[in-house]
Amino acid sequence: MAPNDKIFVESIPPNIDSFLSEDKHFSTKAIHSGCNPQQWSSMCVIPPISLSTTYEQFAPGEPKLYDYSRSNNPNREILEKSLAALDGGKYGLCFSSGLGAINVIMQLLQSGDHVICIDDVYGGTNRYFKKIASKFNISVTFFDFNNLQNLHKEIKSNTKLIWLECPTNPLMKVVDITAISSTVKLINTKILVIVDNTFLTSYFQKPLALGADIVLYSLSKYMNGHSDVIMGAIVLNNEEVHQELRFLQNATGVIPSPFDCYLVERSLKTLKLRMKEHMENGLKVAKFLESHPLIEEVLHPGLKSHSGYKLALRQWSGCSGMLSFYLKGDLNDSKTFLKNLKYFKTAESLGGFESLAEIPSLMTHMSVPPEMRKTLKITDNLIRLSVGLESVQDLIDDLNKALNAIKN
Ligand SMILES: Cc1ncc(COP(=O)(O)O)c(C=O)c1O
Repeated sequence: MAPNDKIFVESIPPNIDSFLSEDKHFSTKAIHSGCNPQQWSSMCVIPPISLSTTYEQFAPGEPKLYDYSRSNNPNREILEKSLAALDGGKYGLCFSSGLGAINVIMQLLQSGDHVICIDDVYGGTNRYFKKIASKFNISVTFFDFNNLQNLHKEIKSNTKLIWLECPTNPLMKVVDITAISSTVKLINTKILVIVDNTFLTSYFQKPLALGADIVLYSLSKYMNGHSDVIMGAIVLNNEEVHQELRFLQNATGVIPSPFDCYLVERSLKTLKLRMKEHMENGLKVAKFLESHPLIEEVLHPGLKSHSGYKLALRQWSGCSGMLSFYLKGDLNDSKTFLKNLKYFKTAESLGGFESLAEIPSLMTHMSVPPEMRKTLKITDNLIRLSVGLESVQDLIDDLNKALNAIKN
């Protein structure tokens, strides 16, 4: 492909001041997809949990629906149908973790292939690319997708995947999925665009409708929302890629248990309610922090001060409870702040009903090489919050008290 600096699709100038309207059928799909009681002989309204690892066959090689639970089972099938419906996709596939799903996507590649990944990516994804993909001779370029006009210079004949997070973790950058997908497809229609939609969920962002090929989830976060399941998922429309992934799901065995599938499926029923409340609490906390003299900068795409605000409005139907901020201070101040929080627990992960706080440079993004953390500004005074579903005034009072502890 000849380098051509006109090969990129410009964003449409934003002229709107509210988020996209919500998916009007979201909760109906979450409650009913895959759950018709008539498929069970007992006609139970809530799907039974099928723990059996194996299924009797009518005759050798003639199973009724399922043969062995690694290949498929009723609870995983229901969940996969729901996930596909919620993202407006044809196929859903579940894996034992978000990283398990990432690992399986990477098995689509061959030695010598190339991936372009957003520079500010979840630490575990960064580690996978740097420490594991490299062993199989798969090269990865980390790229700032807000410089879209330079993307064509990075795309090579062996580029197979474009890896995006939107918003990014932990810097909450917003990227234009439609413009990126169109730009990539103009150069090579075979390159797959992947969007890790963990931070927003299918309720607030629909990457397939924006032009992406694959949506990736750590279901361990908002989609399950109760911090009691580790699981991952992929949703897509492409039949051929789906068949390859379905083969890999069984052949690599990176699958979740039926009980965990049941729990996530149950959690999806309340996803819309939880996300709306996470958004409201998150925005109130962000506004409080923005007004506080000890805060240097708040990174929340729902704030007008955020560089991705206008893009977020035209790509999302809302924001989650995720935000980051820079304290005016150093590592000791960050630690003092975390130590003095009562309701925000110091812990990795996000998206549960409980509020969490962490220092990415010491925790979730510790595996990102120090020089890369420095370039990205993942500094020791950067704090990431997952704002939960507690009463929001209690959360604001908690943060205020912990900030005051730094001053004293
Ligand atoms: C954005 C994002 N993607 C993927 C993952 C990996 O998911 P899991 O922990 O379920 O393996 C995480 C985990 O924190 C994440 O934050």
